[in-house]
Amino acid sequence: MSHFTNLKEQIQNKSAAIVVIGVGYVGLPVAARFAEAGFTVTGLDVNKEKVALINQGICPIEGEEPGLADLVKTQVASGRLKASHDYAVCQQANIILIAVETPIDSVRQPRYLALRSALRTLNANLRPGTLVIVESTIAPGTTERLVLPILRANSRREPGRDFFLVHCPERVMPGRLLQNLRQMSRVVGGNTPEAAELGQALYQHIVEADLDKADCVTAELVKTGENAYRDVQIAFANELALICEQVGADVWTVRELINKSPGRNVLFPGAGVGGHCIPKDPWLLAYGASEMVQAKLIPAAREINDFMPLHVVNLTVDALEEAGLEIEQARVAILGFAYLEDSDDTRNSPSLVVMERLDELGAEVVVHDPWVHEYRGDLWETIEGCDAVVMMVKHRAYRELDLETLKGVLQHPVLIDGRHLFGAERAKASGFVYRGVGEGNHG
Ligand SMILES: NC(=O)c1ccc[n+]([C@@H]2O[C@H](COP(=O)([O-])OP(=O)(O)OC[C@H]3O[C@@H](n4cnc5c(N)ncnc54)[C@H](O)[C@@H]3O)[C@@H](O)[C@H]2O)c1
Repeated sequence: MSHFTNLKEQIQNKSAAIVVIGVGYVGLPVAARFAEAGFTVTGLDVNKEKVALINQGICPIEGEEPGLADLVKTQVASGRLKASHDYAVCQQANIILIAVETPIDSVRQPRYLALRSALRTLNANLRPGTLVIVESTIAPGTTERLVLPILRANSRREPGRDFFLVHCPERVMPGRLLQNLRQMSRVVGGNTPEAAELGQALYQHIVEADLDKADCVTAELVKTGENAYRDVQIAFANELALICEQVGADVWTVRELINKSPGRNVLFPGAGVGGHCIPKDPWLLAYGASEMVQAKLIPAAREINDFMPLHVVNLTVDALEEAGLEIEQARVAILGFAYLEDSDDTRNSPSLVVMERLDELGAEVVVHDPWVHEYRGDLWETIEGCDAVVMMVKHRAYRELDLETLKGVLQHPVLIDGRHLFGAERAKASGFVYRGVGEGNHG
């Protein structure tokens, strides 16, 4: 029987053994879902703490992730899901999924340290006929130029004959990892038509949406393209917000009225864009063709979005001045350090930029976040005696804040709203000196 026929059968009857390399926000839910579907799955990670937690049935992700902790617990108890830090487990696997991080460096280029390391170690442990799937987001051309050469191992192995290669990027979003995994369509990019067919057959077990077959570079472009598109759209909303502030208008009213026009859908402006993906995937897209095409729109959008946390600092300085205080004299509370509401993910958090800039300007800075270990102290104790509060994340705990109580514990009633939690009218009715992103009608 050929490797293809053999593997197709093992996928159909769920006897294929799966290893997921990298059990983070993407890899862990994927591993748990395949275990739930009936496969035997090993999550392989260099982080021994994560491995130990998973083997105890504990989910290492602490943000609000409906169903994930229970799923990890039940699948580990069933014996279908376990974790390891030993690449020797790959020698027994029929399918390897790679979901390691793919950040950019200080000059905004991918270096793929984790991906290269995973592939090289896998290379020494890959058995013939294995389906290798890269789920990590990668720049256009990376499968061909980086993944394939490492797996071919100096041309001793041929894709399609000795192994099958697929790029099937993830579309999940923290806060709804399992729901997204089940309900969102996927692009299954195959290095050969047989590889795409195997990938499609596999994901049918966990995805209840379209699984569109394509080649690898198309899959790379779709993923980086969809996130770059979102970043550009957010940048438009942010630029509109900055214009509204300058001319004394309210961006929230303006966007609502724009969106009444057919086909318009202006997104929310805000205090910056964070997370592992949106701030870097546009750079991956631009990098993919950087030798031939000089991207202009993508870097411009990144610049606008990167400026937003600095703009929040400018608003803070301005509001404090109105309250009669220099920034160097002020104690400022930042509420929210994760990049997303009710998440524990702090990667590329705009709050870090705000914190560092305020510190540079001489302010005393305190931070609170109910989801982030370092900043989990009592909210009211953290805020007490501060001269200004900067709202950076729409965590549920902050949405329910009572403005009168907030004012009561502050030394000076200064409120800067980076996420439109309250709005100028409510804040001013409670007696705050107020600044909100996109709200030019605060005076
Ligand atoms: N986080 C998201 O919402 C999201 C959504 C869609 C796509 N993605 C993409 O998925 C990929 C993974 O993102 P993530 O958020 O899950 O990252 P993560 O940092 O949460 O998880 C990556 C895991 O890989 C492990 N790892 C690193 N190098 C390794 C190696 N050589 N061998 C074994 N394990 C290794 C790390 O210890 C970590 O646990 C990235 O390419 C990202 O762009 C992420």
